[in-house]
Amino acid sequence: MNALLVKDVRIVDADHQLAGDILIRDGIIWALGRKLLPPRGVPVLQGEGRTALPAFIDLHAHFRDPGFPEKEDLLSGARAAAHGGFTCVSLMPNTDPVCDSPEVARYLLAEAKRHGLIEVYPVGAITVGLMGEELSPMEALAPWVWAFSDDGKGVEDHELMLRACRKAAGLDRVIFPHCEFQGLSDRGLSEELMVARDLWLCRRTGCRLHLAHISTPGSLELVSLAKERRLPVTCEVTPHHLCLTREEGDYSVNPPLPDREAREALVKALKGGPIDAIATDHAPHTPRDKAAGAPGISGIELAFPLLYTRLVAPGVISLSELSRYLALQPARILGLRKGLIQVGYDGDLMLFSDEEFTASEDFFFSKSTNTPLLGTRLSGRVWATVHRGEVIYLDGAVKGRDFRDHREVI
Ligand code: DOR
Repeated sequence: MNALLVKDVRIVDADHQLAGDILIRDGIIWALGRKLLPPRGVPVLQGEGRTALPAFIDLHAHFRDPGFPEKEDLLSGARAAAHGGFTCVSLMPNTDPVCDSPEVARYLLAEAKRHGLIEVYPVGAITVGLMGEELSPMEALAPWVWAFSDDGKGVEDHELMLRACRKAAGLDRVIFPHCEFQGLSDRGLSEELMVARDLWLCRRTGCRLHLAHISTPGSLELVSLAKERRLPVTCEVTPHHLCLTREEGDYSVNPPLPDREAREALVKALKGGPIDAIATDHAPHTPRDKAAGAPGISGIELAFPLLYTRLVAPGVISLSELSRYLALQPARILGLRKGLIQVGYDGDLMLFSDEEFTASEDFFFSKSTNTPLLGTRLSGRVWATVHRGEVIYLDGAVKGRDFRDHREVI
C-alpha cells in the first residue's frame, strides 16, 4: 500500500479551513482529522504547524522540451514545478519540433511518466509549426492534448481560426488562444481586439475557450460580457501581471507588464471578476537570449511566494481565494479530481511556512533565472510538495536529486 500521513498542519483549500492531519492512501485523500493514528508502517510527514494547501496546477508553462534544453527540459522543469508547489503542468507547444504531431505529445507524456515527479498535460498547436497558415492534424492530436494553442503568437487569419474553433468543438477540446494582433502600436488594443474576435468565434461555434494571460481592463470587460451571455469561456492571469508594474521596473514579457491602473483592475477582478485561474506562463530563457530581447519570466518557482507576499500577507485576497485560482479552478478546467483537500480527492498537497527568503540565483531548480525578482525578499517558502501521496519535494531537495526521504525527518 502506498500511504502517507501528514501530521499537524493547518489545512486550507478554497472551501475549508481546519487544523489536523491528512491520511493519503493509494494516491487518494483517505481521512482528515485530529490526531489520526498512522496505520502500521505508514510514513509520517511532520507538518509542525505549517500550512497545507492543495498542490497547484499550472495551466500554462514552457518547458522548452524538445528543442531548447539549454533553457529548460522536462526534468528540470518538473523539478522547478515541484519546488514551486505544483504537481500538474500544462505545457505549451512552442518547442522544436512544435507539438503539432502525436509523436511530440506522446514523448512529453512518456518522459514525464519516466521521471515520476509531476503530471504533464500537453497543449497541441493550432497550426502546423505555429506558422499560422495551415491547421495542425487536430483529430490525430486530440487523444493526447487537452487544448490547442499557438502560444507566443495569435492566429491572425480569421478563416483559419474559425475552422480551428469548429474542429475543437467537434473534438471536445479547448481553444487556448494567445490574443495578440501583430503590428498595432497599442499593445493593449491588440490583445483586446483578438479577445473580442475569439469570444465571437466561441459564440458562433460553441467551442470551449480558455484565454491565455489576459492583461488589460478591456479584456476583463469583454470576458465579463461573454460570461454574462454564458459562453463556455475561461481565462487566466499571470502572477507577474497581478504583482508587478512597468512603472516599478519594466521587463520584457508578453503581454507587457501592466501599468498601475491595469494591475489594480486585474487584482480587483480576483474578487468576483471574470478571472478563473492564475497560470505562471513560466518562460525560461538563457541570459544570452534574454539580453537579445526574448520575452518571458521564469516564474513557476516564485509564483506562490510572490502572490503570497504581495496579495495574501497584506490581506488583499485570502489564502482560500488564492487556492481557488491556483488549484481548484485549474483542476476543474482540466477535468481533474484535484484542487481540494477533501476525502476522495487526489493526495496532492503543498506545505509552506511564513519563512522569508531571498530569491537568489541558487534558489532555482529551473535552468533559467530570468526574472525581475532576483534578489527580492519574499515569504511563503514552499517546504514540501506531495504528488498522489508521494513526497516529490522536501525542504530544499527534489525527489531523485539529493533527496532526503521524508522518513528521515519524522
Ligand atoms: O513572455 C512570453 N514568453 N509570453 C509568451 O506568450 C511566450 C513566452 C515564451 O515562450 O517565451
